[in-house]
Amino acid sequence: MTRHWIAATFAATLALAPVVAQAETVAATATVVSETGPKISRNLYGQFVEHLGRGVYEGIWVGTDSPIPNTRGIRNDVVAALKQIRVPVVRWPGGCFADDYHWRKGVGPERKGSINSSWSNAIEPNTFGTHEFMDFMEQIGAAPYVSVNMGSGTVEEAQDWMQYMTAPANTAPGAERAKNGHPEPWKVPYVGVGNESWGCGGHMYPEEYANRYRQYQGYIKTYSGPRAQKIATGADTDDYEWTETVMKQALKFRPKATSPILYNTTRPLMDGLSLHFYTLPSNKWDKKGVATGFGEDQWISTMQRALLMDEMIRRHGAIMDQYDPKKEVALVVDEWGTWFDKDEKGPGGLWQQNTLRDALVAAVTLNIFHDHADRVRMANIAQMVNVLQAMILTDKEKMLLTPTYHVFDMYKVHQEATALKLGFKSPVYQYGDVKVPMLSLTASKDAAGKVHVSVANLDPNRDAALTVDLGSLNVSKVSGRVLTAPKMDSFNSFDAPDTVSPKAYTGAKLKGSSLSLSVPAKSVITVELE
Ligand code: AHR
Repeated sequence: MTRHWIAATFAATLALAPVVAQAETVAATATVVSETGPKISRNLYGQFVEHLGRGVYEGIWVGTDSPIPNTRGIRNDVVAALKQIRVPVVRWPGGCFADDYHWRKGVGPERKGSINSSWSNAIEPNTFGTHEFMDFMEQIGAAPYVSVNMGSGTVEEAQDWMQYMTAPANTAPGAERAKNGHPEPWKVPYVGVGNESWGCGGHMYPEEYANRYRQYQGYIKTYSGPRAQKIATGADTDDYEWTETVMKQALKFRPKATSPILYNTTRPLMDGLSLHFYTLPSNKWDKKGVATGFGEDQWISTMQRALLMDEMIRRHGAIMDQYDPKKEVALVVDEWGTWFDKDEKGPGGLWQQNTLRDALVAAVTLNIFHDHADRVRMANIAQMVNVLQAMILTDKEKMLLTPTYHVFDMYKVHQEATALKLGFKSPVYQYGDVKVPMLSLTASKDAAGKVHVSVANLDPNRDAALTVDLGSLNVSKVSGRVLTAPKMDSFNSFDAPDTVSPKAYTGAKLKGSSLSLSVPAKSVITVELE
């Protein structure tokens, strides 16, 4: 073989080789400026379960006679997966369904069906009721966050439910619970009073809700165990008037100017105020955007809208600060996540496919919650299984973990850790006229001294070379995981369940206090530093 031949063959190979575009790499720097941020409550990793579509029935509950392996009717595969991500708290039974739910129908040996008038008039068998939900909580190790019915219920019904759940067995409500199989009272640490009372929960004006809340909250008590933290129905998205009115009119005992000595109670009447904000690729409910098969225009608009969570929290938080400067009342984002157009080929019931884009939305949203961890102390992604931005999808006996699940798994290390304050200005990612920050970061230090840094690269085309100045943090070892996939809309299917799954991350270098991270386009990484 002559040199000429080799050279000619090489030249021909080069000429024929497909042109592979070299991904551009964008440099960025961040600095750890303070190690004394707020604690990141584990409850920011909460979930939401509603009687809707296949969320409860099939997704969680299959019944004791099912061939699908279960413990007292609850799927073992789903329980094992949820334990892995350390779900701290679960909101139930809705959603709109909560204001349609009469708890008595879901206890005792006789369960009659009712109509789920919130969701397609489906038959609600009431098989999964209070005992089954509490069993589910015990199986996954999460705390219950129960929403009482204000929309179509009464104060008496709410009070009876609290007594049924929490009174000792030597009382009439406790004895009834014991007869139904659970002598020990349950702990009910979080109670929501109504749901979306400005919408499906009663179409109220904020003044009306504030008054009704004042009355309801007086009867939301536990009769054993910890005091129930009471969470008032908060605003939809950017309805700041709602927050203003409810904070002004429902937060405090009525001040009595003529009796300044007796009426000096300052304890708030609420422990939390909720916020609901969904990420749609568009701003239209009747044409939200698709879950798969979208272009970069819908990718970036989804990121842009997810990032609005920061503005919502800031602005609702600023109103809350006026009435509650000590931040005693938590902002509880108890419904959040992506919401896409109905997939006509899907099983219905707000089922939607979950792609790499959902993973990025989860990561940037959790990063925002960490930034505001002093005020935002609980959040509940909508919803846990088979509904909206789910952790888990099931099809009869099959189960898969979504890209969103993997973000919750990679991020669980931040639960209860101290947020580190970062100095950072992100490079810009632009598509068309839309510009968003290319990178979203968070960092925390846990009780054992381990530091975790998570980075989301929103740009689907360009890698980033991120340098983090760790300041005085004393670390010498780095490891991590990365989540990415070939396409913006890559997803996990029952045939290919690992298309989007975390891999060991080898793109980190630690030199003294300088951490270099190579962050692939459209990816989420979490590194651990010890
Ligand atoms: O999560 C689905 C629905 O969205 C809930 O039932 C309701 O509260 C919200 O509008």
